[in-house]
Amino acid sequence: MTNCRLDINAGSGGKAEEGKATHSLSGNNGTITTYYKMAKLSSILVAIVLSFTVVSAELPAAAPGIVVNPDVSSGAAGYHVKGGAQRTKTGLHLPLTLNNGKKNIFGKTIDKLSVDVSFDSAERLHVKIADTAGKQYLVPNSPLGLERPKISHAASHLNYDFHYTEKPFSFKVVRKSDKEVLFDTTGQPLVFEDQYLELTTKVPDNANIYGFGELTGEYRRNNHANVTTMWARDVADPFYQNQYGTHPSYTEIRDGKAHGALLLNSHGMDVFTMTGRITYKVIGGILDFYFFVPEPATPNSVVRAYTDLVGKPIMPAQWMLGWHQCRYGYHDIEEVDTVVEEYRKNKIPLETMWTDIDYMDRTKDFTFDPINFPISKVKDLTSKLHSRDQHYVVMIDPAISTNTSYEPYSRGHELDIFLKLNDYKTELQGQVWPGYTAFPDWWHPKVQEYWNYEVTNFMKSIQLDGVWIDMNEPSSFCLGSCGTGKRNEVPAYWWTLPTDEYNTLHAEWEKNLNALGTGVPGDTRNLLYPPYIINNGAGNLSEKTAPTTSLHYGRIPHYDLHNLYGHAESHVTNQAIQKYRPNERVFLLTRSQFAGTGKNAGHWTGDNTSLWEYLKESIAAILQMQQMGIALSGADVCGFNGNTTMELCARWQELGSFYPFARNHNSIGMISQEPYVWPEVAEGTRKALAVRYAMMPYMYTLFQEANTVGTGVWRPLIFEFPNDDTFLAEDVQFMMGDSVLISPIVEENATSIHAKFPTGVWYDWYNGKAVNGPTTKTLHADLTTIPVHVRGGSILPLKTPEMTITATYATPYELLVALDKNGKANGRLYIDDGHSIEQDGTSSINFSISHGKLTAKGSFGYHEKTKLEKVSVLGGKYRHAVVDKKIYTLRKDATTGAYVASGFKIDLNKAFTVNFY
Ligand code: NOJ
Repeated sequence: MTNCRLDINAGSGGKAEEGKATHSLSGNNGTITTYYKMAKLSSILVAIVLSFTVVSAELPAAAPGIVVNPDVSSGAAGYHVKGGAQRTKTGLHLPLTLNNGKKNIFGKTIDKLSVDVSFDSAERLHVKIADTAGKQYLVPNSPLGLERPKISHAASHLNYDFHYTEKPFSFKVVRKSDKEVLFDTTGQPLVFEDQYLELTTKVPDNANIYGFGELTGEYRRNNHANVTTMWARDVADPFYQNQYGTHPSYTEIRDGKAHGALLLNSHGMDVFTMTGRITYKVIGGILDFYFFVPEPATPNSVVRAYTDLVGKPIMPAQWMLGWHQCRYGYHDIEEVDTVVEEYRKNKIPLETMWTDIDYMDRTKDFTFDPINFPISKVKDLTSKLHSRDQHYVVMIDPAISTNTSYEPYSRGHELDIFLKLNDYKTELQGQVWPGYTAFPDWWHPKVQEYWNYEVTNFMKSIQLDGVWIDMNEPSSFCLGSCGTGKRNEVPAYWWTLPTDEYNTLHAEWEKNLNALGTGVPGDTRNLLYPPYIINNGAGNLSEKTAPTTSLHYGRIPHYDLHNLYGHAESHVTNQAIQKYRPNERVFLLTRSQFAGTGKNAGHWTGDNTSLWEYLKESIAAILQMQQMGIALSGADVCGFNGNTTMELCARWQELGSFYPFARNHNSIGMISQEPYVWPEVAEGTRKALAVRYAMMPYMYTLFQEANTVGTGVWRPLIFEFPNDDTFLAEDVQFMMGDSVLISPIVEENATSIHAKFPTGVWYDWYNGKAVNGPTTKTLHADLTTIPVHVRGGSILPLKTPEMTITATYATPYELLVALDKNGKANGRLYIDDGHSIEQDGTSSINFSISHGKLTAKGSFGYHEKTKLEKVSVLGGKYRHAVVDKKIYTLRKDATTGAYVASGFKIDLNKAFTVNFY
């Protein structure tokens, strides 16, 4: 027996509110009254089917021209428990039967459901509401979906209770410690149809919701009504619309305590975060919920619990944390080489040089442009970079040109690994950069063999260090299989055509797609035009991507898998890269992502614009990725689309120098924006990167923590200080780990920021001046400075910044001891060889100081050659330090005011103490 509480409570219900339409669902065991705020279902249906106007003015998130329907399905039949609850080894099984009431709202209602409740662990509850027949699609239990943990017994000592009502069926998740109702479907419709699931949870009116991505917008989601649409889409970061990746999960902070929920479902969906409720409207699959209720209920613990399920962020090699330079539109290898040299001349650290699709021969994967990027010259560049401890990364797109004389295509065709049309025979031929293209089906049993061959040979040919995968929503420039029967033609990109020509072409595509039918044989669903229209910014689900009727291995329609395509490609590509260099950590950057992608890849936020709004928004976007377990994340520094300005680029380089993944990237046709282009930007970059590189051991330790615990490298202030309401909506200032506060300037012409400081002492990185929080302070920051503060109570491991990560790591270690009010501080340093997957040994050193005694203890498995040669103390006036019985006199640093002990070489391979007085 488990000691969870089953509260079979069939009579409780919601309260009707004045002025709102009410509706009753009656059942044998009582009546539940539900209440609705909006129009009747019939009028919603009419609005959705017939018109393309926005029905609710409340939702600023609407993509233009798309219906947004935030209402709940008033009058939906709902379900009741029939046949009795059964205890199972892992929890509880509830058979559900449909009630009388409205059916077939947006699809075919499913009569019999099974609710399986699993008490996975003290903090994780799994509630799976599925069709009993098991026909609905589930996110695969594999690395191409999500490998579910095997649960054989219900956990005990749960942090939560699961309550449910029998008639109608509804449930609540209640935190035990304070009886807080975290998730509550009572009185809300439950709709379960083949192409439409709807479920609503009540939340407080001003709930603080973080998550539901990938999204360009504010970090806190519901200070206004909103909809997040999940349908992976190639689009240049529009605010509040669906874009490249999907993460159907959130964390809520209520009165300083946090909990989280994931709806593990890969279908298109709209999630409405409205006053008092969250409503999920999903166009397929099942309601597979995981709830995270950690104790203590901190936001960081929710991230830990979430990544326990979906996987911990990938561990980067140290070099991956250096500065990256890229652009779309470097004309030839000479230009790329010039950029490398300019960085060197301007003494700006450059760790990794990148090349976009420009290197390819007519934009075909695994080829080199023989004129502008001949392989011999590319090889020369990689060798030169490697000889200077620098690195090289290029792009690989998933779409494979169907040109018949192109070998990567013939090999794929031979293995039959490409996505098919709904006849399950003909290859889908969409259009991407090289013209008509086929799309690898990442679920095909032979696709790994195929991709291993192509990727490893390619990487080997130029000694490539890492791979960037783009266009993997997947993006296609046409609708349907526009290349069928035309494979060797080279079509124009649609955006280059006059409007009327494009319209004619589009009508042709549409006709061809419709001619294939709206579904797939043996499946009664309308996959092309599902009855519930999600708020996909591109309009029809098949626009600019693979048709929803195309088939993956096992005859799985793309409709079901779409949101997993980039996630699956990340897994397959990660495996392929490991084949190339088996014991080296993988560098992989993906555009499309799903829950759990962070264990295979990093992510950049896609095509932003060189505008101040995007500089600011990049912070929320990165914080969101950190929460979703994608630690290695960043945005295109200085902006991708549009021309940047000197001032914007300066501020962006300075903020970007702290991005977990830090890369300047630009679009084709835009003015150059490498940091050396303007002296001010060069100077700001040098200063900010000097901080990043100095903090590299601290940052690397944070990445190791992300990889083992799951917590973000960047953290929203509210995640570190959940009891301080001032930070609930803060998404400009943020923390790097728990010890560094960054207060960037993100507004044009601004030379100061009105910065908030949490409780505690905060030391200015540059001049050591202490700010006593909680307080607000105007921080002045000239064009070349980004304000950085170190939290009193922390010890940061540092290095001397050099031009590369290797050179930086070759310098001695230092400690920056920032004392709190009580003269105490602590910190950690993780050490390994910095690049291998398997390690002979690693070290994790915990530093702490109290009453002038600094101790270093921990595990010492790695043989570290560099020594600790300097300790600087902020906030304590020590004059002497005793190291190994020798006395060293401290000097006061003229700039920071820190008391600095040096002259020793402390071995970091064993515990030690330093006494200050
Ligand atoms: C779209 C990507 O988002 C962008 O970063 C890249 O430069 C272009 N594709 C060209 O490959």
